[in-house]
Amino acid sequence: FSLRAANTFGIDARARAYLKLTRVEQLAQVMADPVLAALPRLLLGGGSNIVLTGDFDGLVLHMAIAGREVLGEEGGSMLVRAGAGENWHGFVQWTLAQGLGGLENMALIPGTVGASPIQNIGAYGAEVKDLLHALTVFELSSGRLRVMDAAACRFGYRDSVFKHADGAGLVIVDVTFALPRAWAPNLTYAELAQEVAAARLASPTAQQVSDAVVAIRRRKLPDPAQIGNAGSFFKNPVVSAAQCAAMLAAHPALVHHAQGDGSEKLAAGWLIDQCGWKGRSLGAAGVYDKQALVLVNRGGATGGEVLALARAIQADVLARFGVALETEPVFV
Ligand code: EPU
Repeated sequence: FSLRAANTFGIDARARAYLKLTRVEQLAQVMADPVLAALPRLLLGGGSNIVLTGDFDGLVLHMAIAGREVLGEEGGSMLVRAGAGENWHGFVQWTLAQGLGGLENMALIPGTVGASPIQNIGAYGAEVKDLLHALTVFELSSGRLRVMDAAACRFGYRDSVFKHADGAGLVIVDVTFALPRAWAPNLTYAELAQEVAAARLASPTAQQVSDAVVAIRRRKLPDPAQIGNAGSFFKNPVVSAAQCAAMLAAHPALVHHAQGDGSEKLAAGWLIDQCGWKGRSLGAAGVYDKQALVLVNRGGATGGEVLALARAIQADVLARFGVALETEPVFV
């Protein structure tokens, strides 16, 4: 089975077997089948956060469970639930059409609702962890469904329990968000505030904030339907205040944001850009010309080429700035 259309990087790898999941019961059926249950498993949503470095000799489970509903009010919030296979941006737009704000800063992020908590997606000053109420997982070992609240998900920056060993056997089947009844725009991210101001919106609606986010993303980020990519390829590194101060002395234009706990988050895109990588390529893998944090498939790239480019960038940033960049997508 070709996985080319199943990963937004557009890497042409193959899987031994493939199954589309539209119902939770199918998970129990897979685990009850001795042949299928024995195969290595890869769970895929929109395939927008993976790099396939070769063929996958196992079973790809494509999460496609649908459904969206408003559950009702609870403690000043409206609870809304979506199936794990729902497209994230479609879900965000649906909540806005229901008159519910809260997710608009995360408009146009590729992928599915079920994948959103795994890496705790975030953009323009908002993260999924801020609005997540609970989620339901199917526990592969026991065949049971379990509800987890936000604390149980152990969220961090682009991180959660689902990226670690103790969350590996859990399949997210639906996610519930708590959206504020008393909504106010979150314009803490300077670039978003500027975009809203430029549109002369004194008191923007949630839909208008979403439109502004979409406009920024369309300008800066490649559309995976046109240019293969997996969003930001590296996490923004977090360093101590002392290391940041030392770096600033040598590089006064360094882009950094205080984290409130004494640490500083650096803009990896800026570090990569300074090393001269923006717009460059190694083989068919390249660095996007409008945002150095995004690696792209210039046509027919293999996972090996993407990895080689990532390693070259990491080596240059380490040599020049003394900072080790961590990759963000999952390598398969
Ligand atoms: N910058 C450069 N050169 C570049 C890219 C960025 O100098 O080539 C500088 C910019 O001028 C800016 C700073 O770096 O001062 C930050 O850039 P930007 O606002 O584009 O955001 P980012 O830190 O590169 C992060 C997220 C994005 C998210 C945006 C907006 C990570 C790894 N990435 O990018 O998330 O959309 O902020 O909130 O945290 C993703 O995770 O896939 C993703 C796209």
